[in-house]
Amino acid sequence: MTLVFVKFVHYLAIVFSGGVLVGGGVIQSVYTKANQVPDSITAKILKLLGYIGLISLVILWISGIILSINLYGGFIINSAFTIKIVAAGLLLGLSAFINFHVFNSSKNNIPPNKTIMKIATMSGRGLLLIILITAAIAFS
Ligand code: HEM
Repeated sequence: MTLVFVKFVHYLAIVFSGGVLVGGGVIQSVYTKANQVPDSITAKILKLLGYIGLISLVILWISGIILSINLYGGFIINSAFTIKIVAAGLLLGLSAFINFHVFNSSKNNIPPNKTIMKIATMSGRGLLLIILITAAIAFS
């Protein structure tokens, strides 16, 4: 029963991290296409989305570690799973870096670097896709 709950938490965190990537990406691309910088309210929304993304990734790691140990006795499950956790580690690092960058920019009253944000959003989507594909393969 407890593990069912942990699994539910894992899935809920997936919804949040994916939602942040899609929602934040759409907001950013609309602004980029209009060649405008997000106003202060939208910048606050993007900052909040960034925090939610980072927190959901931390929750994914905590619940994922609990599931791996209890269901499979550790982290050596198969090669697809290894790719999944390497990609999940990269995504966690990327999210932490972006939160740091956005935090620093807002502290200095400048908008976040457009190129960094674009590359990060694209890499984030790619990594999430890899994680979902390798999760499907690992547990099929
Ligand atoms: C962005 C990060 C992550 C995403 C998007 C993600 C996604 C998923 C998905 C979609 C599944 C369901 C697969 C299935 O049942 O067919 C799953 C299951 C699982 N995940 Fe993750 N995961 C992430 C991070 C992690 C991490 C970091 C770990 C371990 C350190 C982990 C461990 C597990 C385990 C053990 C299961 C299998 C549970 C079972 O057998 O039912 N996950 N994950």
